[in-house]
Amino acid sequence: MNQEQRSFRFLTPAQRRQYIAQQRALSADQVAMVKNNATDAEALLTENYLTTYRLPEGIAVNLLMNQQAYQIPMVTEEPSVVAAASYGSLMTLDDGGVVAQTLGQALTGQILFEGIDFEQLRMFVTANEVELKRRALAEHPSLIDHGGQIKTLIVRDLADGFASVDLTVDTGAAMGANTMNDLLNGLRDQLAQHLGHQPLTAILTNDGQASLVKVTTQVSFARLAKGDAAAGAGVAQRIVSLSELAQRDVSRAVTHNKGIMNGVDAFVVATGNDWRAVEASAHAYAAQTGQYRGLATWQLRENKLNGELTMPMHLGLVGGVTASLPLAKINRQIADIQDVTELNQLAVALGLVQNLAALRALVSEGIQPGHMALQYRNLALAAGATPAQVIKLVAKLKALTRPTLADAKRLLAELLSDSK
Ligand code: MEV
Repeated sequence: MNQEQRSFRFLTPAQRRQYIAQQRALSADQVAMVKNNATDAEALLTENYLTTYRLPEGIAVNLLMNQQAYQIPMVTEEPSVVAAASYGSLMTLDDGGVVAQTLGQALTGQILFEGIDFEQLRMFVTANEVELKRRALAEHPSLIDHGGQIKTLIVRDLADGFASVDLTVDTGAAMGANTMNDLLNGLRDQLAQHLGHQPLTAILTNDGQASLVKVTTQVSFARLAKGDAAAGAGVAQRIVSLSELAQRDVSRAVTHNKGIMNGVDAFVVATGNDWRAVEASAHAYAAQTGQYRGLATWQLRENKLNGELTMPMHLGLVGGVTASLPLAKINRQIADIQDVTELNQLAVALGLVQNLAALRALVSEGIQPGHMALQYRNLALAAGATPAQVIKLVAKLKALTRPTLADAKRLLAELLSDSK
């Protein structure tokens, strides 16, 4: 390892760019791109900052949730996700869109012990619960300012000397990871002092069980088949069967849930929230019965297709980088989000309509046609077409059965020589 690598963190962003450019023989264009995407403010958000990696952002339209219409910013590299979210939303409009309700909005943290006398721990926590909560809150009094409060303190025996003290907190407007860590640290020190036993660690859990959102929707059959109710009834029946498969088969459940997360994550990223936490809690919840299952389910009722999705969602409107990433702030304004409850609900609503669009496409024309239209553009860009050349190149690519990158490059070269 050379000196620059060892002292990489002491270099300025400009010096790091210069070093990397030399090391990896980046071209002048590449160096310019890396430099032009960098900002001084974002250099403060990660260690060893080099540049800012950008992803496309689109706006999903048509979503009506709890009788309010939304325009939803979605950040994703996957073609057709934004179009599918808009189409999924459109299908639910006849019947009032999506209805969302919050089943809980709290975060749980754990103080983890090994080699502890569980009875001693349980008795101490039970006898001193009020005082322990009061002292924990003293570590982060601004919790109250954000509309939060401490809820429960529970002791769990994890067998063989392992135990967890679970602190559940309503974190108010903040996502609350930092708040929780402060509260846990305070509690950990108190427990260590009084029990004479040092806990292994204290950390929030991402299981999300205390923060569930439930969304439902109805879809009339005609909406599933371009106005043809009879054909739509068949589509609805096949969606129900595919939904049932996601309850039985893990392989299908994973892909079913991936489609839901296409919508959820794109919105979570757009709002500057922690999508890894959202993913982890979603999959843990999907496996809560001991078998991994599809998160959204679809059934036939009242001569309609009925969808339901319940999943953990614990996003923040303040704190973390939600305030420091300028686009995250703008995106909240675009989505017209008033509070954290609405933010969490909108993410889950988007997951349900995204799933609807995916399942409908899968049981009717398949996802390929929707995907391909946008994949052609991808191919054209990958071949080196400028935005102005993309439209012409896409028209040529569409005429081929399975165009490859080599085809795109060849056709682009033809286009360029034609225009000379
Ligand atoms: C593709 O990104 C997502 C789908 O595979 C989801 C699904 O299969 O339900 C279409």
